[in-house]
Amino acid sequence: MPASNDPLLQPFQLKHLTLRNRIMSTAHEPAYSENGMPKDRYRLYHIEKAKGGIALTMTAGSAVVSSDSPPAFGNLHAYRDEIVPWLRRLADDCHEHGAAVMIQLTHLGRRTGWNKGDWLPVLAPSPLREPAHRAFPKEIEDWDIERIVADYADAAARMQAAGLDGIEFEAYGHLLDQFWSPATNRREDEFGGSLENRMRFTEMVLEAVRKAVGPDFIVGIRMVADEDWDKGLSREEGVEIARRLAGSGRVDFLNVIRGHIDHDAALNEVIPIQGMRSAPHLDFAGEVREATKFPVFHAARIADVATARHAVTSGKLDMVGMTRAHIADPHIALKVARGEEARIRPCVGATYCLDRIYEGGEALCVHNAATGREAEISHDIPRADVSRKAVVVGAGPAGLEAARVLAERGHQVMVLEATGEAGGQINLLVRNPRRKEMIGIVDWRLAELERLGVEIRYDVYAEPEDVLALEPDLVVVATGGVAQAPEVEEGSELLTSSWDILAGAVKPAGPVLLFDDNGGHPGMSAAEVIAEAGAELEVVSPERFFAPEMGGMNHVPYARAFVERGVRVTINARLQSVRRDGNALVAVLGSDFSDGARQERRVAQVVVEHGTAANADLYLALKPLSRNLGAVDYKALIARRSPLPVKLPQGRFDLIRIGDAVAGRNIHAAIYDALRFCSFL
Ligand SMILES: Cc1cc2nc3c(=O)[nH]c(=O)nc-3n(C[C@H](O)[C@H](O)[C@H](O)COP(=O)(O)O)c2cc1C
Ligand code: SF4
Repeated sequence: MPASNDPLLQPFQLKHLTLRNRIMSTAHEPAYSENGMPKDRYRLYHIEKAKGGIALTMTAGSAVVSSDSPPAFGNLHAYRDEIVPWLRRLADDCHEHGAAVMIQLTHLGRRTGWNKGDWLPVLAPSPLREPAHRAFPKEIEDWDIERIVADYADAAARMQAAGLDGIEFEAYGHLLDQFWSPATNRREDEFGGSLENRMRFTEMVLEAVRKAVGPDFIVGIRMVADEDWDKGLSREEGVEIARRLAGSGRVDFLNVIRGHIDHDAALNEVIPIQGMRSAPHLDFAGEVREATKFPVFHAARIADVATARHAVTSGKLDMVGMTRAHIADPHIALKVARGEEARIRPCVGATYCLDRIYEGGEALCVHNAATGREAEISHDIPRADVSRKAVVVGAGPAGLEAARVLAERGHQVMVLEATGEAGGQINLLVRNPRRKEMIGIVDWRLAELERLGVEIRYDVYAEPEDVLALEPDLVVVATGGVAQAPEVEEGSELLTSSWDILAGAVKPAGPVLLFDDNGGHPGMSAAEVIAEAGAELEVVSPERFFAPEMGGMNHVPYARAFVERGVRVTINARLQSVRRDGNALVAVLGSDFSDGARQERRVAQVVVEHGTAANADLYLALKPLSRNLGAVDYKALIARRSPLPVKLPQGRFDLIRIGDAVAGRNIHAAIYDALRFCSFL
C-alpha cells in the first residue's frame, strides 16, 4: 500500500508489534468453526480482511478456555490442543498479507446454556440467571476457580504456541466481569463485596497467564467500564478497574465497552443496529483513554471511514474497530489507501450477521453474499473469457447485484426497470424511517453500475418482445414479487396489505388487527408504522411466538415500539374470515391448536402479511425460447460451475430467474442468487 498522510492509515506501535494502520476488526464469532476448530472457511474469512489491508484481525469471539463454558454460538474450543495447528495456519496466512492476528479468549460463566457441548453445568459467581441464555447457574466453588484460572493460562499458552500476535480476554457479560458487577456478584467471601475482592479472580487469571506466556506476549482485555445500569457496574468503578488494569503491568491494551448484555434490549445498546446513533460510546472510550493514558481500542457502530478517522484524529482511540463494516466489505483499508473510499460497500446496520448466529446459523451479510463463502466465491469478481450481451429485467436487489456481477465479468449489461426508480421492495421497507439506511444496498450498487458503464432504462415494463429486441445472449429475470394475502374463508376483499400500509397508500385506521403469517420484517415493520401512527393495534401470529423469522437484535426496536405504544400481541391464532358489520369489520380468529377455537375482534382495519407471489410472467414467456428452457443444474450451481444446461441448442439465449421472482425470500437470498449464478456465467 502506498504511504499516506491519512491519520487512519498511520501505524500504531503496541509494545513490540507494529500495526500497519488504525483499522481493526474486533472479536466476533462468525460460527464458521467446525467442531470448535478454525478450519478453512474460518481462515479464508480472516485472510480476506488481511488482503484488504486491515491492521489487526481479532479472531474468534469468545473462544472458550474451559469445557464447562459450553459454546453458545459456534465458539472455538481454546481448551483443546488441536486448535494450535489450525490457528498457526490462519496466523501465518494473515501475516503473509501484513495483518496482525489475535484471539479473544473467555469463560462465558452464566452466559451460555447447559445443554450444549459436554453438558456440564453452567456456573457464575452467584446463582443468578442470565435472561438471554436462560441457564440457572450454580455458584462457582473454590475448586472451579482453581481449575478455570489454570484453563485461562493453558489457553493463553496455546495461542502463543500458535504464533498469534496476542490475546484479549472478554470481560463484558462473561465470567471475569460477572465477578466485577454487583448485578451478578452477591458473594460474601473473598471474591465478593469490595472492588478488590471482585477483581480478585481477574488478578488470579492475569497472574497465571503472565506466568504462562511471559512478559512480552501481548495480552489485552475487552472490558466493560460502565454497565450503564442501576444494578450494575458504575462508571466510577468501571473506570477505576480500567485504571487498575492499565497500571497492573499485566495488560497491554484496553478494548472498551459500555453497557450490559444480559438481554436483547441491553445488548442492542452495546451493539447498536440500523436506525440507532452512530458511534454512541466513542466519547466514553475516549474518556477511558484519557483517564488511563493507555492504548484503547473500541467498536460500536463506527461503520464509516469518516467516523473512524475522527476517532483517531480526536485522540479518542488508538485502534478503531470496524467489525460489521468488514463483514460488509473486507477491503476497507485498501480502498481508503487507493483513494476509493466511496467504493466501500457500506454496512447498513441490518445486523442479519449477528442475528443469524444467535439463531444457530453462521454470520452472513445481508448484502455481501461472498462473506463467509470465500472458498467458493471471490470478493473480486473475475473476468469472463468471453463477453456476452446480457439483459437484466428488474432493478431490485437481485437485479442490481446481477447487473453488477455480470458487468464486473466484462459482459455488456442493460437493465430494464418497470418503475421510475431502482430498489424494488427496498423502497418499501425504507418507508419505515428507522430502516432507511437499507437504501445503501441500492445506492452502492447504482454507483458501481455507473462506474461500470451499465445502462438502466426506467419505466420500461418489459414484455418478451422488448427483451428479444435487444438480442441478448443472456437474460436475467429479477422481476420480484407482489404482496399476497393469506387464504380466508370469507372477506378477502376487506383485507389491507401490509405493503399498502408501508407505502403510505392506506393510512392506519384503528383499531387495527394485523395478521402476520410471514414472521419477518414486512409484518413487523407495518405493525411499527401503525403503532407509531398512534392507532390501536393487535398483532396476531398463528405460531408459538411472533415474528419467528426475526433475530433478537432486530426484534428489539419493534418490541420497544409495541411496548411503548401498548400493542397487543396474540399468538397461536389464525385469521379465518372477515365480515363487515356496520362501519366496522369483524375478524374471526381460529387456531391451529384447537379445531373449535374461535374469537372475534371488532376493528376498523384488518392488515395482512403473507409474503410475496412471484412475478413470473416474463420468465414463463421467455422460457420456451431459451437455450436452457429455464432449467438450472443445481449440482453445478452448488459446485460453483456454470449452472445452465443446454436443452434447446437452437435457443437464442440463456435464461435465469433469481430472487423473489422465483419465490419470496429475503434480501440476502436475492443477492446470493445473483452472485452465485452470475459469477460463473
Ligand atoms: C456475528 C458477530 C459476533 C460477535 N461475537 C462477539 C464475541 O464473541 N465477542 C465480542 O467481544 N464481541 C462480539 N461481537 C461484537 C463485535 O466485536 C463488535 O463489538 C460489534 O459488532 C460492534 O462493532 P461494529 O459496529 O464495528 O460491528 C460480535 C459481533 C458480530 C456481528
Ligand atoms: S448484515 Fe448488515 S450489519 Fe451485518 S455486516 Fe452486513 S450490512 Fe452490516
